[in-house]
Amino acid sequence: MGIMYHQFDLDNINLDMQPPMEEPARQYYFMAKCREHVRKEQARLGRPLTCATVTFGCQMNAKDSEKLEGILETIGYQKADSEAADFVIYNTCTVRENANTKVYGRIGYLGMRKKKNPDMKIALCGCMMQESQVVEKIKKSYRFVDIIFGTHNIFKLAELMYESFTKRHMVTEIWEDTTQIVEDLPSEHKYTFKAGVNIMYGCNNFCSYCIVPYVRGRERSRKPEDILAEIKKLAAEGIVEVMLLGQNVNSYGKTLEHPLSFSGLLKMVEQIEGIERIRFMTPHPKDLSEELIETMKHSKKICPHVHLPMQSGSSRILKAMNRKYTKEDYLKLVDNIRASMPDVSITTDIIVGFPGETEEDFEDTLDVVRKVGFDSAYTFLYSKRTGTVAAKMEHPVPKDVASERFGRLLAEIKKTSEERALRYQGRVMEVLVEEKNAQGDGMLTGRLGNNLLVHFKGEDSLIGKFVPVHLAECRGFYYIGTLSEKKS
Ligand code: SAH
Ligand code: SF4
Ligand code: F3S
Repeated sequence: MGIMYHQFDLDNINLDMQPPMEEPARQYYFMAKCREHVRKEQARLGRPLTCATVTFGCQMNAKDSEKLEGILETIGYQKADSEAADFVIYNTCTVRENANTKVYGRIGYLGMRKKKNPDMKIALCGCMMQESQVVEKIKKSYRFVDIIFGTHNIFKLAELMYESFTKRHMVTEIWEDTTQIVEDLPSEHKYTFKAGVNIMYGCNNFCSYCIVPYVRGRERSRKPEDILAEIKKLAAEGIVEVMLLGQNVNSYGKTLEHPLSFSGLLKMVEQIEGIERIRFMTPHPKDLSEELIETMKHSKKICPHVHLPMQSGSSRILKAMNRKYTKEDYLKLVDNIRASMPDVSITTDIIVGFPGETEEDFEDTLDVVRKVGFDSAYTFLYSKRTGTVAAKMEHPVPKDVASERFGRLLAEIKKTSEERALRYQGRVMEVLVEEKNAQGDGMLTGRLGNNLLVHFKGEDSLIGKFVPVHLAECRGFYYIGTLSEKKS
């Protein structure tokens, strides 16, 4: 029979019993067990134990890290400012080779720290760990690592930690895939005013260059009631902006017992009191619906910003990428979006140097960039990922050719994005204040609904609040502004 534990009431868990089988009760049991261990260690050392989570990669990973931190904090660790901590987790990314290389270097460095502090624990998780060749390499060359787990079982951190505390050998648990979604575990959030919320996990699109479907598994949507409950709780804690997260948010809800469209979900989130701004990432161009455009147009809360990864402007390359839209489809979609929302900001991702990309294909990409005029774009050199379809494709683009194209693309994007940013010059717009500038110059940084950054002078007490700011001076992709009396 199941015992439901109150989320944070670890004191009422009987630790002499066998661990419960059902989730999340099982994890709360192990959190309580680990907390006991941490308390003993603290008494022995006469100081608090600290933890650090280092996150690589995308917003999904950032969100996962907040869940890991929620568990670590419940166990009794204090967050350290640096990696000089008693428990260090690297949450890794493998979307491109350079993300991957960076991690190995830093694991080596962690190993040197551990020599000085033998009680230190090192855990590796995230997308890289879903690749068997990576795990083999770590088992062989980085034997000081204590725990390895993947993307599907992050909810089990406490259980894996407890095993590591008691058995003292390397604990490895990687799942191939999962259909399980464990709700109601603790989670931290980095900001007090904005938070990411998973609406779905995994990806079924298999774009030919992309490793994500292999390391994040099949697409599965969270139930709307769980998503809404989480957002209501966040709103009650003071969160005013939510970012709905998924690899392809347009296909949200298709596999639910009671199917619901992404627009349907957005309309429900819109109803939640206290939430002022709604963002989402990422919509796939192939199924961005008319319904979504309409929903955005009529919404008071959904931000006027669409991140619409294009990847390439060449229909031939798009086909080889398995993106399922053409250059013309993409341009048409942008037109439709702008026809409904003239002021919307459109940003994108572009890959340069996909196998077989010719000068002509690349010209098509430049052509779309010029025609659309993106507000900003993330550009990437194609990186071959083992196991993907593109990894076996012929005619790799030589490095020097790809970098030369990359440079031309950057220059083109800079031109169009500066032009786009300039259109707000002189306006007074609402800014959500995010943080004070690192330089300590009395300036604050905030974000417009369209995602543009604004720096302006103001008191720290404004952090987390909405304020009207006069956009005085455009500096390319951000503004220098001044606090204003009211919106114009
Ligand atoms: N789900 C999102 C993208 C997730 S990955 C989407 O479909 O748009 C983020 C970006 O990384 C992608 O948009 C793509 O531009 C880039 N990317 C993915 N795999 C890559 C690879 N093998 N080489 C270079 N860039 C890649
Ligand atoms: Fe990768 Fe394509 Fe899925 Fe995005 S939609 S995560 S690019 S496979
Ligand atoms: Fe994200 Fe990198 Fe994984 S981009 S999904 S953390 S491979």
